[in-house]
Amino acid sequence: MTDRTHLVDRITGHRRMRRNRKADWTRRMVRENTLSVDDLIWPIFLVPGTGITEPIAAMPGVERMSVDRAVEAAKAAAGLGIPAIATFPNIEMALRDEAGSNSLAADNLINTATRAIKAAVPEIGIITDVALDPFTSHGHDGILRDGEIVNDETVEAIARAAVIQADAGADIIAPSDMMDGRIGAIRAALDAAGHQGVGIMAYATKFASAFYGPYREAIGTGGLLKGDKKSYYIDPANGTEAVRDAGLDVDEGADMLMVKPGLPYLDICWRLKEAYGLPVFAYQVSGEYTMVKAAAANGWIDGERVMLETLLSFKRAGCDGILSYFAMDVAKILARR
Ligand code: PBG
Repeated sequence: MTDRTHLVDRITGHRRMRRNRKADWTRRMVRENTLSVDDLIWPIFLVPGTGITEPIAAMPGVERMSVDRAVEAAKAAAGLGIPAIATFPNIEMALRDEAGSNSLAADNLINTATRAIKAAVPEIGIITDVALDPFTSHGHDGILRDGEIVNDETVEAIARAAVIQADAGADIIAPSDMMDGRIGAIRAALDAAGHQGVGIMAYATKFASAFYGPYREAIGTGGLLKGDKKSYYIDPANGTEAVRDAGLDVDEGADMLMVKPGLPYLDICWRLKEAYGLPVFAYQVSGEYTMVKAAAANGWIDGERVMLETLLSFKRAGCDGILSYFAMDVAKILARR
């Protein structure tokens, strides 16, 4: 052996990390995390009408779909093995009002979609959001009064909306509004209505993030939103507060926790998993999706590899699954492997 090798052996004490990395087969042997189709939840956007599939400029590759097209999409997702979809409606402007009252209509867009998808594709899970923002004329997640998002009245409204969504067939209610006490109120309302089997995925730590921009175009709230959501979403600077907030959701009966956005908040994913042991999901939000798409479209990154790497990083951070607009693309890639 050369002097050089003696030197490195003295430094490393013969521990060489590269032995396990030397070939594809060793790398596969020691691989700690893998991405599976079971990890994917696909968020989809709904529009009124039939036969409609329309692009969303800020989210290349993502479309708004009428209910009939959403049924087809759900079928395709189930065919690839995706366990669940999450639905977000873009309703007519004329139906949006100060209180978001269309959220309480049994035959509104989201409930109509749930019924149609349940009837045609019973094997896929349906996760519905009860925040009021798709239904309000001001784009806020709650009821706006004198410039303030009123907490308790909003909680009452979303608990009622949750029961109506469960009546339509929603399997998991996912409130993204960040009002205080909403998880307990939704649980109580669901149970009182006989929906003990309907789960709650708490948007436990939702941050006041700039990454939601393209989503607001997708559901048509971008131009409506007055002010910001900092009085109810979490400050991106606060990790300990986020853990505490999620703990309240656990105490109030959440079945699963969600971290949103995803990639900039991997530390929170890890902390929630360690602290509570509940299933933890990350929402890779619209802005995260769009950044990858835009850079890839410019040829600046390998979009497919970056997409897979971001999703795998959620697994490494302790997540049990990811809501991602890439879900269908990834499911197709995994099916080929
Ligand atoms: C609001 C809501 C948001 C998203 C889903 N529901 C954030 C917002 O508009 O403030 C964001 C999803 C995404 O960006 O992909 N209840």
